[in-house]
Amino acid sequence: MKNHSLLSLTLAVLGILCPCLSRLSPRVSFPMGSPGRHLTRFTSHDVSNTTTLLLSEGGDMLYVGARDAVLALDVSHKDAIILKNKLDWSPSDKDLEQCSMKGKKMADCPNFIRVLQFLNTSHIYACGTFAFSPRCTYVNSEMLTMSIKSDEGRGRCPYDPYQRNTAVIVDGELYTGTVADYRGNRPVISRHLSEGRRVDLKLDDTLGWLEDPTFISSSFIPDEEKIYFFFSEVGREYDFIDKFIVSRVSQICTSDVGGQRTLQRRWTTFAKAQLLCQADNELPYNVIQDVDTLPPAEGAPADDTLFYGIFTSQWSVNSGRSAVCSFSLNDIKSVFSGNYKVLNRDTLQWSTRVQEKVANPGECGLHNASDNALRFVKENFLADDSVRPIGRSLTMVSVEHNYSHLAVQRVSAANNRDYTVLFLLTESGYLHKAVLLQSGTHIIEEVQVFEQPQPIKSLRLSIPKGMIYVGTSEGVVRVPAANCSFYWTCAQCVLARDPFCGWDPANRACVKASNTQTSLGQDIDKGNVEEACNHVTLTHRARFGPNKLPTGELVSVSLNEVVRLQCPAASQLSQQLWERPNSRLSSDLYLQLQDGSLSFVATPATLGHYICLSTENGYQQTMAIYHVKQKTSPMAQTPTSHTWPQTYPIPTTQAVARPKPGLHTSVGTWPERQETRQAETLPTLSSRDTQVITRQLGRNLTMRQKEAEFQDKELLQLARGPCYLKELVAVSVLLVLCLSLLITMLLYVIRQRCHSRTAPQAGTPTRNSDRRTPVEQEALRGNQFLSKQNGQTPHSGQVSGLSCNGALTGSNGHLPNTPI
Ligand SMILES: *[C@@H]1O[C@H](CO)[C@@H](O)[C@H](O)[C@H]1NC(C)=O
Ligand SMILES: *[C@@H]1O[C@H](CO)[C@@H](O)[C@H](O)[C@H]1NC(C)=O
Ligand SMILES: *[C@@H]1O[C@H](CO)[C@@H](O)[C@H](O)[C@H]1NC(C)=O
Ligand SMILES: *[C@@H]1O[C@H](CO)[C@@H](O)[C@H](O)[C@H]1NC(C)=O
Ligand SMILES: *[C@@H]1O[C@H](CO)[C@@H](O)[C@H](O)[C@H]1NC(C)=O
Ligand SMILES: *[C@@H]1O[C@H](CO)[C@@H](O)[C@H](O)[C@H]1NC(C)=O
Repeated sequence: MKNHSLLSLTLAVLGILCPCLSRLSPRVSFPMGSPGRHLTRFTSHDVSNTTTLLLSEGGDMLYVGARDAVLALDVSHKDAIILKNKLDWSPSDKDLEQCSMKGKKMADCPNFIRVLQFLNTSHIYACGTFAFSPRCTYVNSEMLTMSIKSDEGRGRCPYDPYQRNTAVIVDGELYTGTVADYRGNRPVISRHLSEGRRVDLKLDDTLGWLEDPTFISSSFIPDEEKIYFFFSEVGREYDFIDKFIVSRVSQICTSDVGGQRTLQRRWTTFAKAQLLCQADNELPYNVIQDVDTLPPAEGAPADDTLFYGIFTSQWSVNSGRSAVCSFSLNDIKSVFSGNYKVLNRDTLQWSTRVQEKVANPGECGLHNASDNALRFVKENFLADDSVRPIGRSLTMVSVEHNYSHLAVQRVSAANNRDYTVLFLLTESGYLHKAVLLQSGTHIIEEVQVFEQPQPIKSLRLSIPKGMIYVGTSEGVVRVPAANCSFYWTCAQCVLARDPFCGWDPANRACVKASNTQTSLGQDIDKGNVEEACNHVTLTHRARFGPNKLPTGELVSVSLNEVVRLQCPAASQLSQQLWERPNSRLSSDLYLQLQDGSLSFVATPATLGHYICLSTENGYQQTMAIYHVKQKTSPMAQTPTSHTWPQTYPIPTTQAVARPKPGLHTSVGTWPERQETRQAETLPTLSSRDTQVITRQLGRNLTMRQKEAEFQDKELLQLARGPCYLKELVAVSVLLVLCLSLLITMLLYVIRQRCHSRTAPQAGTPTRNSDRRTPVEQEALRGNQFLSKQNGQTPHSGQVSGLSCNGALTGSNGHLPNTPI
């Protein structure tokens, strides 16, 4: 009991103290319908559940597996996606009747196409759930006609449309990972469509090859002649009370033809290993959600192939978060060539007993191997080591976004350096574009692609066309990988740090970096505007003269009215700062609200000019200028005596609580006023002593205004007035309570530290670990055990981006998940 309250207090205190608990926010956001990001959508009244996507090699055609249909979409046009052909393929009424008689919901009985792969140059192979009785067929990719020949889909396609599966065709043979029965409890990895001396292969049923897996994806690596499968399953090697989920990579050789006596028509090359997405002393992100393959750079060896995966956590501590980890083919290969765990058939316990190696599990070409060797292979398929991520750290952690799908691309920037760009789909329907930098992950932008949460969805990247396709029940959406012209100044173009975009000084436009030979203003690593835009500033000044001012806005007010001045944010990463010429913004009079706007009460002292500056990455630009004037009285005069270099155009607006579109839309509408925002030509006010008000108290404007107005008086009254006495006493008591709790906690921590130093190290579970659930303890213990075994000394996990992984990071020894 005491322990628990102490723990929550510790967490609360840490939550407050840990500044790195920051969020990884996209710099710019494009909600649905933003003009800055033109999405092309395909929907049709008679087509739904367009969730399986297949792109033609050049990226001109997109084949879509939908409900009761396969579509061929012509995506080569700039403005529209055109339905070229449609193949209807639905179960008969009798099939549907049987499906619903078996107790299935009618909505799940149609034929959901779940496998769609190119078979050869003229045909596509398609499989669908077909009223819980999966079927496969050959489809002519030109005419989209179905051949008479059709196959049973068992082992190739799931029965249940909500079950995940994976399939890939290599040399006319279909490799799949799916469940192969109606109830959904016979998972298989198998090969189909083999001909001649090559036979269809599958996993041996009798063993624990797969433990209730969820198949995620598969990838063929031509240089290895291997197919890698990615999935999550129950980790039986961890001896847990609860089900502990582990992520796996497994491999099979395409040359496999099974054994001659032992392992006949079974894989002889199957091996699996754990994929560990975990920072030191953290609970692992153990549930893999998606994987994409990044082929090696031109000229680099195949071993440099990287697999980027999204992982979530089974534990509530990390709920709603997701992590990205990357694994190299080289590391995977070395784990598969190491030792293997052994399963004791009687106790069903895994052990790491080292046997004499009769064969190398996972090795290709065991067809003619001895029975002895094949028996060894049959029993040794779980690698002892785990595959650890590149750099032994997480590539990225998001504390607020639950990512479900990703695509990865290597982009060559203007400096001829390669950058890795990730496209990440959130559960809530946003597509994030992130670039991985030495200094961490930078999320360039987010684009909303669907509105309702989607149970089944998919993501495809067309690198040759620079397009991303998202398939959901709402239809297919096409998103351009970049819209450089959205950035209308050199500063914006550089601050975006988008490897796809650079500033062309000759044409004064932000352009696609790949399309031009001229040297572009771009600084992906640092986003330094001064350096990247230096030359531009000069030409611009020369053209427009140094004193061109943006259009100011005239604001007429009555005295004692609450004035609220809006300031559009340059981006979600910028900070707004208000200034007045020749005077300070005293915190007694002004409140800067969370959205960057400025609120104050109109008094003779507060009339005058206001300028809003936006600072991002060390670069400052003017976002708005206002002139606040008293409304009607002709007697009233603006008390500020400074002279502003230019008079403002007429538009008079009521500024009081005038709702302006939020950040999202205002970002979208800027370009219309682009000339007013040429930051290079704006004068910045010289008074360096201007102060910003950063207090951000609540959201109640009325309250704020009163506070601003009467702050001091109120404080005095509060101290004097008898009516506040009760509250004062209550607050004091609370404060004392809090303080004593804190002191208790500190003492406790110190005591515990001393205790743990003197206590014997081995065996006794610490108090800290007592607080975890048994599964959590085991998860940590297991993984630490592994890391020790691998001879890894923990070194500071350098999470890129904002490196703090939630409330439990950034500490040594004091935290509940760090056994002392
Ligand atoms: C790119 O952004 C500009 C400026 O907001 C907009 O006019 C244009 O339509 C956008 N283009 C695309 C393809 O989204
Ligand atoms: C592709 O495969 C289909 C089905 O097996 C076959 O009918 C067709 O002739 C093949 N096409 C080519 C070009 O090999
Ligand atoms: C995150 O998404 C995964 C699937 O993509 C889902 O299983 C999980 O429940 C989600 N977590 C939260 C907290 O929404
Ligand atoms: C197995 O051995 C036979 C005869 O020794 C040979 O013809 C055949 O090619 C071998 N098969 C493989 C897959 O190596
Ligand atoms: C099909 O789409 C509907 C919405 O149109 C959705 O409710 C349902 O879950 C989808 N089914 C599958 C299997 O994706
Ligand atoms: C703001 O505060 C006033 C006075 O306390 C209250 O009447 C009003 O409901 C509040 N408004 C909001 C939006 O909280």
